[in-house]
Amino acid sequence: MDATESQDALAHLAWQVELGADEAILDAPVNRFELPQAAAKPSPAAPPAPAARVATPAPAERDEGQAALAAIDDARRRAEGAGTLEALREALAGFQGCDLRHGARNLVFADGDPRARVMIVGEAPGREEDLEGKPFVGRAGQLLDAMFGAIGLSRTAVDPAHGLYITNMLPWRPPQNRDPTPEEISMLQPFVRRHVELADPEVLVLMGNWACVGLLGRKGIMRMRGNWEDVLGRPALPMFHPAFLLRQPGEKAKAWADLLSLKARLRGDT
Ligand code: URA
Repeated sequence: MDATESQDALAHLAWQVELGADEAILDAPVNRFELPQAAAKPSPAAPPAPAARVATPAPAERDEGQAALAAIDDARRRAEGAGTLEALREALAGFQGCDLRHGARNLVFADGDPRARVMIVGEAPGREEDLEGKPFVGRAGQLLDAMFGAIGLSRTAVDPAHGLYITNMLPWRPPQNRDPTPEEISMLQPFVRRHVELADPEVLVLMGNWACVGLLGRKGIMRMRGNWEDVLGRPALPMFHPAFLLRQPGEKAKAWADLLSLKARLRGDT
């Protein structure tokens, strides 16, 4: 491998690590006890089996990987350079690294009171949010307002003690409301982290799997909900996403238990 190839391979590896890869494994498990002897132990003279060779990414893939790495770098620089929420919104508006912006009508930055004790991080804007430029204004948003209203919190409260500040992992609507890709999460995560630092809420609520992927680096909301975590030095509560609760109303009792846990935390009981 010459110097350029090895640099490309290293860049590709760095990209995989950025996406969360921490082990060298294949897509499907291999039962090595069932491999024929010869395949399991190739003779020293035999050429290496194709699967055992380190795959060098095709040039197009390599270019895409490098563009994505450059976009993540740019996102970090822009986010870290923003000293206020308004500057962060502008930094995001000027960020060209994410193609989602081209299919969206509006940048959806935040809603509510940035001085609120509680900040909610959702997933991504849907159709209504894209049209209005505000997070959680559709059916899921109405349920979210009712849920938090039940413990005395509202995005329209005048007093920040009863306020809510709301944002999403992605500020642009993905086409057909598809799930975010790992690349999108990686390149938009620096903005969300900076958003949390600048708003500086006492408590974070991570609404659904994608907020957990973006800020905790893992998903599994069925297990994670209701268990307090730490994000950027503050307590963070993973909760079921209201869109999930609209589909699975039987799970609302668990969401209620989590809201009570949040209320107790805000009262200083826990
Ligand atoms: N779902 C989200 O996660 N965010 C929104 O803004 C709307 C729906």
